[in-house]
Amino acid sequence: GLPQHVKIVEVGPRDGLQNEQTFVPTDVKIELINRLSEAGLPAIEVTSFVSSRWVPQMSDHTEVMQSIKKYPGVRYPVLTPNIQGFNSAIAAGATEVSVFGAASQSFSERNINCSIEESMKKFEDVVKAACNLSLPVRGYVSCALGCPYEGDIAAPKVAEVSKRLYSMGCYEVSLGDTIGVGTPGSMRTMLDAVMKEVPVSSLAVHCHDTYGQALANILTAMEMGVSVVDCAVAGLGGCPYANGATGNVATEDVIYMLNGMGIHTGVNLHKVMEAGNFICSALNKKTNSKVAQASFVP
Ligand code: HMG
Ligand code: MG
Repeated sequence: GLPQHVKIVEVGPRDGLQNEQTFVPTDVKIELINRLSEAGLPAIEVTSFVSSRWVPQMSDHTEVMQSIKKYPGVRYPVLTPNIQGFNSAIAAGATEVSVFGAASQSFSERNINCSIEESMKKFEDVVKAACNLSLPVRGYVSCALGCPYEGDIAAPKVAEVSKRLYSMGCYEVSLGDTIGVGTPGSMRTMLDAVMKEVPVSSLAVHCHDTYGQALANILTAMEMGVSVVDCAVAGLGGCPYANGATGNVATEDVIYMLNGMGIHTGVNLHKVMEAGNFICSALNKKTNSKVAQASFVP
């Protein structure tokens, strides 16, 4: 049945901004994160400790990590693809990291420049190092509902990669619909397979809204017991290695839906909308959140 409480993982500062073509000033990133903390979000993905040649937008990772206000009770995970990224993240003060794999071989190669198998070895190194410091590691599985290069991805493949991440010690596995092609039908099939390998209490869904299916897919996942939902303020987002992938589902829209269903999140919708206005003005962009559009007062 439906969860009574849903944990919202805000990925806007990372997923939302990584695809922006012009460099977003570091102080804008910091203010965005501080505003999101203020809104009561329990987890905010801050930045990525990846190669600045690959993703220049995240090149200020150390300064952002060091300069944000750390609110008590809020988690601030960062992406770390390998031990080099992990070490930089720790040096910058990170206390939670995420490894990011894929259920598609081609996507893995293009995104992190190695095969799925090679990536698992790198992630094991990260998990071991994190474990030594008693730090939690989250694991992503991209292309869980489709790949920009390979098309359909078989549900058992998603289950296999999810199981690998969970077994190596990831406390939560986030299933990414990287290009937003999934539907409630494919979400159900995929989750049926994954839930045989990973307890549903350790699963999250990460839906991009490219085809307008994200809220329906999230509701389907919640009906199957998933209680962790990744979203991005103002519906920002996209992956530089997934052409045409647009924004994540908007945090405002997810909170609005959950409020309407009486499902508790602890997040202040009004303050998320203010953070959305702030970042959209800074980027000179129109919000992708339907709720924010509906509530916008010119
Ligand atoms: P590589 O070139 O294969 O790495 O990159 P390498 O180990 O061969 O090293 C080559 C150079 O990269 C060296 O520098 C290393 O120091 C450097 P050089 O000696 O040539 O000057 N390097 C690094 N620098 C900084 N941080 C590091 C690091 N590692 C090596 N951690 C790498 C491999 C993974 C780093 C590269 O492919 C990369 O940065 N990729 C970008 C991945 C990325 O950020 N993708 C977007 C996020 S994933 C996503 O959006 C999907 C998600 O939202 C879920 C969903 O929607 O599905 C999570
Ligand atoms: Mg994403």
